[in-house]
Amino acid sequence: MKIAIDGPAGAGKSTISKAAAKKLGFIYIDTGAMYRAVGLAAVRQGIDTTDTEGVTSILDDIEISISYDESGQQIFLNGENVSAHIRLPEISVAASNVAVIPAVRLKLVELQRELAAHNDVLMDGRDIGTYVLPDAEVKIFLTASVEERAMRRYRELVEKGIQADFDEVKADMEYRDKNDSEREFAPLKPAEDSIILDNTDLSLEQSVDKICEIAEARKAEKQ
Ligand code: CDP
Repeated sequence: MKIAIDGPAGAGKSTISKAAAKKLGFIYIDTGAMYRAVGLAAVRQGIDTTDTEGVTSILDDIEISISYDESGQQIFLNGENVSAHIRLPEISVAASNVAVIPAVRLKLVELQRELAAHNDVLMDGRDIGTYVLPDAEVKIFLTASVEERAMRRYRELVEKGIQADFDEVKADMEYRDKNDSEREFAPLKPAEDSIILDNTDLSLEQSVDKICEIAEARKAEKQ
């Protein structure tokens, strides 16, 4: 069984997805981490992340893989664990920029589909229900108001000891929302058969419970 969770930045996708996958006994795949790793690779090589040709030219030398430990999914860039490096605000913007480039998406989608072919997965991202796993049995579009999403992301960064400015976090988020929704290839949008879950006023636990309820009901239907 496949569960697709899509939505804009700061809707709580990763935290909620991780907890829901654990509860349901599914493998959690964070596809955003893959785009972040490609963004990081470009930034490290001094490539402008909006330069399609420049980014495309380094793709063959980039190997992305994932593994799991007690803290969850770990992401590797050419064998180096970059899980902490990819969370910096500048890498969020780099990820959104490289995610516009079709060659980047094709490379990562191949890896994502390969992972889903062999496991019960709960995968989160922007295009999972619409493009990566169109046959997913459960599709959820998780969203919240932009103010609430920016506040959640701001608190998260501060908790991690990363210096952040609320207005900048909000501006980055609006930039990414626009970039992600308006790109030509596999843009961010709810799949026609998705359930829209606005969690502006829901707690983390309530969001997790809601997703698990939907998944359990779907599972029961299938049996
Ligand atoms: O955690 P947050 O929601 O801030 O972002 P993320 O899920 O880590 O994704 C980072 C960026 O990667 C997004 O802004 C998208 O541009 C891109 N992305 C994508 O295009 N498609 C996906 N399936 C996942 C992420």
